[in-house]
Amino acid sequence: MKLVFATNNQHKLKEIEAMLGFNISLLSLGEINCSDEIPETGETLEENARQKSEYIFDRYNINCFADDTGLEIDALNGEPGVYSARYAGEEKDAELNMRKVLRLMNGVNNRQARFRTVISLIIDGQELQFEGVVEGVILEEKAGEEGFGYDPIFQPTGFNESFAQMSLDVKNKISHRGRAVSKLVQYLNEKYE
Ligand code: IMP
Repeated sequence: MKLVFATNNQHKLKEIEAMLGFNISLLSLGEINCSDEIPETGETLEENARQKSEYIFDRYNINCFADDTGLEIDALNGEPGVYSARYAGEEKDAELNMRKVLRLMNGVNNRQARFRTVISLIIDGQELQFEGVVEGVILEEKAGEEGFGYDPIFQPTGFNESFAQMSLDVKNKISHRGRAVSKLVQYLNEKYE
C-alpha cells in the first residue's frame, strides 16, 4: 500500500519509515509533486492534523496522514498549544519562542507542561486519529544543544535532563511524536501485515 505522509521533513519521514513493515511504502509531499503551503487554520491540534490529511486526500485521492504538535503549559492556560511554531511571531523563530515562554513563566511556580502530537490518518476516506503525550516541566533557563524547537526548556517527567540534553534515541522512545507514531505504526502493521 502507498501512504503519503503530509510532510517534507526528511527527519520525520525516515523515523517512521524505519518502523513500518514492508507492505507499506511511504511517500513524501515532494514525491506526489505537492509543493502547496497546506493551510493550518484550526484552533486545535486535532483540527489542524485533519485539515492537512483531508487536503491531501481530497486533491490526490490517496491514503495519507498528517501530524500536528503543540507544547501545552498549564500556567499559560494550555498555550502555546496549536500556536507553538509561531508563538513569538510568523517568523517561527525557536529562540524567540523560548524567550517568550521563559518571560511569561518567570516567577511562576506551577511549571507543569506537556508536548502533545495528534496524527490524522485517512484510509479509503475514513479518518482515524492517534495521540501521543509526554508530561514534564518548563525549566527556569535553557539547557542543552540537541534537538529543536522548545527542547532546551522542556524536561520530561522522570528525567534530570532536558530534551535538548538527550540523545535522539532516548528522546524518540519517550516523546509525544514517538508515542503517536508507535500507535500509528502498530495499527498499520496489524492492518497490512
Ligand atoms: P509540528 O506540528 O511538528 O510542526 O510542531 C509545531 C511546533 O511545535 C514546532 O515548530 C516546535 O516549535 C514545536 N515542537 C514540535 N515537536 C517538538 C519537539 O519534539 N521538541 C521541541 N519542540 C517541538
